[in-house]
Amino acid sequence: AIRQGLGSLHGIPLFKSFIEGWPQVKAFQARPDDLLISTYPKSGTTWLSEIMDMIYHNGNAEKCRRDAIYNRVPFLEMKVFKGPSGVEQLENTPSPRLVKTHLPVQLLPTSFWEKDCKIIYMARNPKDVVISYYYFHLMAKVHPDPGTMAEFLENFMAGKVAYGSWYDHVRGWWEKKQEKKILYLFYEDMKKDPRQEVQKILQFLGKELSEETVERILHHTSFQEMKKNPAANYETMAFTFMDHSLSPFLRKGITGDWKNHFTVAQNERFDQHYQEHMAGSDLHFQMEV
Ligand code: A3P
Repeated sequence: AIRQGLGSLHGIPLFKSFIEGWPQVKAFQARPDDLLISTYPKSGTTWLSEIMDMIYHNGNAEKCRRDAIYNRVPFLEMKVFKGPSGVEQLENTPSPRLVKTHLPVQLLPTSFWEKDCKIIYMARNPKDVVISYYYFHLMAKVHPDPGTMAEFLENFMAGKVAYGSWYDHVRGWWEKKQEKKILYLFYEDMKKDPRQEVQKILQFLGKELSEETVERILHHTSFQEMKKNPAANYETMAFTFMDHSLSPFLRKGITGDWKNHFTVAQNERFDQHYQEHMAGSDLHFQMEV
C-alpha cells in the first residue's frame, strides 16, 4: 500500500508526494558555497555523496559515520509520508552544504544558477541503470510495481519511470556544462580509476589533500566498505519502505551486470533505441569494462 503512483511535474513523471512539495523546492534558496550532487537515479549518487562528505571532512571516516548518508547529504526534492522534507533538512544544515538531486536540468531551482553553485553530475550507462533501477523498484516500495523486467525495460525506454527519460537527463546536464560550473563524471570511470576521478573532483573544488588522505577516502568509499557501513548502506533508514531482503541497496556495484539480464533481442532493441536517442551528441557511454 505504500507504493505510490507517479504524477507529472512539467511533463516529468515523479512521485505524487514530491509534486505536492514542489512549491517549497522551487523556492529553495541555494547558498553560493552549496555543492550540488546531481544524477539520474541509480547512477552512483550515494557513492559520490560519500566521497564528497569524506573530502569535506579531509578523510576523517569517523566524522562521516556521524549520521546516515541521506542526512549528511540531504535530498533536495524529497518529500515522504512523515519527517522533514529535503528542503527543511537543508535549511537546518550549516554551510558548506552538500545537496543531492535527481532533477532534470530544466527543473533545477533557479537559485542554484543565480548563486553560481558548483555542481558535480555523475552519469552511468543506461543498461546498468535500468537493471539497478528495476531492483530498486522491487526493494524501495515507494515506487510503482515494476512488473517484469521486460515490462520495466519498455517503461524505462519510453521515459515512463520516476524522473523521466534517462536520455533527456544525461543530455540536458551535458549541454548545460558548456555554460555552467559543472563537473561531469561517469560511474564507469570511477570504477576503473577512482583515484583519478577523486583528483578531478579536488581540482574542481580547488582543494589539495595528501596522498594518505586520498587513500583513506578511496578505502572508506569502496563498495565493500560502504556495504558494511550502516551510515552508507541505507539499512538504518528510519522510514520502512526499503526491504533489503528483496535486494540490498548496495546491490552489486559493478559495470556490465546488464549482461546477466538482457536477452539478445532486448539488447539489440536497446542498442537501436540508444543510437536513435543519442544521435548528434558527443556524449558517449561505456557499457562494459
Ligand atoms: P547496482 O544496483 O548496480 O549494484 P544510487 O546511489 O544513485 O541509487 O546508485 C546505486 C548504485 O550504485 C547501485 O548499483 C549500488 O550498488 C552502486 N554503488 C553504491 N556504492 C558504490 C560503490 N562504493 N562502488 C560501486 N558502486 C556503488
